[in-house]
Amino acid sequence: MDLLRLLLNLPPGASSVADRIDGLHALVIGTTMAVATYVFASVAWFTFRYRRRGEAPATSPLSASRRHELAVIGLVLVTFVTWWVIGYRQYVDLRRPPANAETVFVEAKQWMWKFAYADGRTANDVLTVPIGRPIKLVMTSRDVIHSFYVPSFRLKTDVLPGRTTTMWFEATALGTFPIWCAEYCGVNHSAMRGEVEVVPLDDYARRHAHPTTDADLVALGRATAEKRQCTACHTFDGQPHVGPTFFGLFGSERVFADGRRGVADEAYLTRSMMDPTADVVRGFRPVMPTYQGVLSNVEVGALVAFIASLRDAAAPSGVSLPKLTITPSPSASPGTPDLPRAAANATRSEP
Ligand code: CUA
Repeated sequence: MDLLRLLLNLPPGASSVADRIDGLHALVIGTTMAVATYVFASVAWFTFRYRRRGEAPATSPLSASRRHELAVIGLVLVTFVTWWVIGYRQYVDLRRPPANAETVFVEAKQWMWKFAYADGRTANDVLTVPIGRPIKLVMTSRDVIHSFYVPSFRLKTDVLPGRTTTMWFEATALGTFPIWCAEYCGVNHSAMRGEVEVVPLDDYARRHAHPTTDADLVALGRATAEKRQCTACHTFDGQPHVGPTFFGLFGSERVFADGRRGVADEAYLTRSMMDPTADVVRGFRPVMPTYQGVLSNVEVGALVAFIASLRDAAAPSGVSLPKLTITPSPSASPGTPDLPRAAANATRSEP
């Protein structure tokens, strides 16, 4: 495995999923090499064995070659299904952040990475995380499509304008690991680099003066809804207004003006803020302006957490609805984060 990694010029794996991804990678390369060797050997053998020597015999042993062909087809199918099963299980694990993952918001722009922790700290190009703790990245782009790629973690996810994508990882080695943008995004694409700094847990806890809990994020969401005047059109208590109420909205089924239906999940709420006319709920006029470039990604995440908290209040007891996976930071000591500062910092614009 290490030999293959060196041949492919890959850095040593530094995340909890790296070994499994390398394993599948090696299996795919190994089987394709074996098959390629078999095909070339067969070509060489047939070239020699069946070279023209006078007239060909009138009959050929068809049944033997037919059996051979069927065996090859079967082997190919088994191989692809095996790859798919292993890859699918890895994919599912990569899509499901653990419940105790800490959320960090990522904003990509030409040509830098901006990180915002829910406690208000922000950083450009350097993402600091503790070793051995799951981190969930909620990512969006301010301009064009970028792609967040950490070769040492064997993880890569596209970052799109007007939409959020997520990925999670757990670093297993201390040190700094390069972040590359893996989607051509303009003249300085190749310079759009950052790094993940993996530090010991107590080091990280020292820098995190304010641990962030679910309640903090919900409070920030409520403050944001008031500050950004969502309240001009949306109520929190189920009363009808210009737009749909936030009460009981999260997780509910929506019927749109054109008859389509959808569930109000994280993705729907984010899209509704960025592209409000895409899915207008039946009975409402398409009057909401876009908030793309207005709301920071921390504010978007906080608004979604706030709206989700109103779902819990509205849900009849005994009904279990999908749980939002924005979770408290693992740091132990409680504290009151400076939430308005979080929003202010996050919206500060770069030159
Ligand atoms: Cu951003 Cu390439």
